Amino acid sequence: MIRKCLFPAAGYGTRFLPATKAMPKEMLPVVNKPLIQYGVEEARDAGLQHMAIVTGRGKRALEDHFDISYELEHQIRGSEKEKFLSGTRELMETCTFSYTRQVEMKGLGHAILSGRPLIGDEPFAVVLADDLCLNLEGDGVLSQMIALYKQFRCSIVAIQEVPNDQTHKYGIIAGEQIREDIYRVNSMVEKPKPEDAPSNMAIIGRYILTADIFDLIADTEPGKGGEIQITDALMKQAQSGCVLAYKFKGHRFDCGGAEGYIDATNFCYENLYKKGL
Ligand code: UTP
Repeated sequence: MIRKCLFPAAGYGTRFLPATKAMPKEMLPVVNKPLIQYGVEEARDAGLQHMAIVTGRGKRALEDHFDISYELEHQIRGSEKEKFLSGTRELMETCTFSYTRQVEMKGLGHAILSGRPLIGDEPFAVVLADDLCLNLEGDGVLSQMIALYKQFRCSIVAIQEVPNDQTHKYGIIAGEQIREDIYRVNSMVEKPKPEDAPSNMAIIGRYILTADIFDLIADTEPGKGGEIQITDALMKQAQSGCVLAYKFKGHRFDCGGAEGYIDATNFCYENLYKKGL
């Protein structure tokens, strides 16, 4: 079964400069919690225990976040404020965290390949923590995808319909619809112009990948933008086997840019923080 979740978190986060000059984008707080923690909680809630994080230069705050901060914790021990750290503490007690560095930022596909030593030869989940996904009505997006994996046993990408003028920001899929919310992928294009897009169904930052993806990425040449693209490797997998695209239930916020980040903050403040969740 799926036990591990990979978090590629080595990107430069240029859309959020200057905030991301010395701080990882994944540490940006949505209300009072950093993006990476929302991602880890979603993975934990989906039953995954092993968190594998691909970091890069200037990203040490990620490791420190899931570690003890002796001085601070000593300072607030026995006070009301201890409760603010209980969620993070619980994750540290119930999950393992391992890290590797992507030395050269050669794209998402390359970042996933850099995580291979932490994953090994087993299927795994991928969370891009700057895509914040929340489902107030039921299971989180990763839980929904793991349930599908149990049924279909193949790679799965989460998709969302986007306006036609936004296709250039995403990997776009086309495929045969096999259920109201599932497509069998037969085409995938990275960041196409609207006129070249095979549909308006965009891949967002949640994946389930089978282990053969690593060899496929290793054989993938740099594509769009000179980066090694996960969509190119997934396209090969789709041709020789099965890749599903799943229209998830819930909300997704692109927190890699200001607009999505502000929407996420307002949403979380109203629906989670104010309710003490
Ligand atoms: P993005 O496309 O959002 O790129 O990466 P970015 O560098 O993080 O941000 P901008 O566009 O410059 O603002 C999607 C995900 O892939 C990771 C990022 O950390 C993010 O989670 N990534 C991307 C890597 O880990 N390594 C890379 O070389 C590229």
